[in-house]
Amino acid sequence: MTKPKVFVTRIIPEKGLAMVRDVCDVDLWSDELPPSRGELLRRVQGAEGILSLLTDRIDGEVMDAAGEQLRVISNHAVGFDNIDVNAATARGIPVGNTPDVLTDATADFAFTLMMSAGRRVLEADRHVREGKWKTWGPMLLLGAELHGATLGLVGLGRIGKAVAHRASGFDMRVIYYDPNEINHDTDVNASPVDFETLLKESDFISLHTPLTPDTHHLIDAEALSLMKANAVLVNTSRGPVVDMDALYEALRDHKIFAAGLDVTDPEPLPVDHPLLSLDNLIIAPHMASASGAARGNMAWMAANNLIAGLKGNPLPNCVNPQVYK
Ligand code: GLV
Repeated sequence: MTKPKVFVTRIIPEKGLAMVRDVCDVDLWSDELPPSRGELLRRVQGAEGILSLLTDRIDGEVMDAAGEQLRVISNHAVGFDNIDVNAATARGIPVGNTPDVLTDATADFAFTLMMSAGRRVLEADRHVREGKWKTWGPMLLLGAELHGATLGLVGLGRIGKAVAHRASGFDMRVIYYDPNEINHDTDVNASPVDFETLLKESDFISLHTPLTPDTHHLIDAEALSLMKANAVLVNTSRGPVVDMDALYEALRDHKIFAAGLDVTDPEPLPVDHPLLSLDNLIIAPHMASASGAARGNMAWMAANNLIAGLKGNPLPNCVNPQVYK
């Protein structure tokens, strides 16, 4: 029996790739960098399934380039703003994502950034390596303490809640604002507030919202101007939720204390970007889910979604279940 043809846009952990190889005729893009737009449009031709990453823009043009036999798009990510879901739904194509399995890894990393930005860990490391450590200093590298501080969560979905759970161990007061107006029957100790109150009262602000037209530049110059001077802003969601230029100015002028970014706009951030000249910024290359366990499970889940779609079964994690109606 011929195996269904699929295009896999990058090497993913073997835990998922082996499953896909077992049941599919796999065209695997094995470069370190994503396929160019032209390459993507060429390689999807005739594919019955696409296993994509968040670096691939999968829109109607890609779906049409694939052809009418395309039966499933499986994104190796929980976020799916790289996919035109409406275009997929219009074509009756289910789209899968990988929620839950990266929740803890991402929440851990949000905490890593809060603590390391708040306590100036990278500045401290540079201080030592650059030979500046002369003595124990009572005023040296004073930072912001998590314990007892107010944590403002923008978004209280799976990851936001996992961050809130961790915050209770630090005796933090947790408040949240959900721009997606999800109705929370919350099992975490977090109080809803409006956006302005969150900005004004939080010592730490952590972003856990999907990127939508409503959350694009949610953190702009005005939002930053309402934050406390000691505020630490952490973004592990999507880069464009924060206006990078406004953040640069707020950090440069010490309007807020520090920021920790796992995501930027654009990605990658050019090495000559002004933000990278600042000491009060800690930055990582979009790696909050990068634990071996989480990435293996994401690959497994993406493979399951892909295979279910190829078999005509409902995807275990489908972002547009209306295709089944
Ligand atoms: C990572 O950013 C993801 O959406 O999985």
